[in-house]
Amino acid sequence: MKRHAVVVALLLSTASITLAMAQSDLKRPSPSDQYIPRLGDIMSAAQQQHQKLWLAATAQNWELAAYELGQLESTLAGAAMMYSGIPVSNVTTLKDPLQSVSDAIAAKDGRKFAKAYANLTEGCNSCHTSMGRNFIAIRVPTGPQPFGNQLFPPQRKP
Ligand code: HEC
Repeated sequence: MKRHAVVVALLLSTASITLAMAQSDLKRPSPSDQYIPRLGDIMSAAQQQHQKLWLAATAQNWELAAYELGQLESTLAGAAMMYSGIPVSNVTTLKDPLQSVSDAIAAKDGRKFAKAYANLTEGCNSCHTSMGRNFIAIRVPTGPQPFGNQLFPPQRKP
């Protein structure tokens, strides 16, 4: 028992020494060192949120739909803030469709939601097209399968 206590104490003390050394090694990240996610990764998050938003609303889980909408809005706002190369107008054109989706969720109105969601999806694509990426074609999801909200065949050039 006594021996056990000593071993534990030893383990703890080496652990805290290692930890202390590690900490002195690591400087606190300054704002300029902070990790900036790649735009494609941010968009992959947006893709999931876009699909989950649809799935939640079609299941009439309006609470979850509101949550996913909030997530999607923050993701898009983050993309615009971090990537100044994205024209501001491309982001602001999404404002109205996002508001309509939000209104439809508040009203728990599936039909309004479907219409607003289709406009939102068009907004995703119009930014992709205007930025030379019309090959990234988003659509209203066909179901819960991964990437069910993306079209993979080649798209006609705009
Ligand atoms: C303001 C412009 C803009 C808007 C709005 C926008 N995107 Fe994107 N998206 C981009 C750009 C630019 C890229 C390409 C990023 C790159 O080249 O690294 C992209 C890439 C993507 C990708 C490809 C990610 C990958 O790496 O496979 C997906 C998926 C995507 N967007 C989904 C969406 C969805 C869903 C929406 C709407 C809810 C949306 N985007 C709205 C600009 C936009």
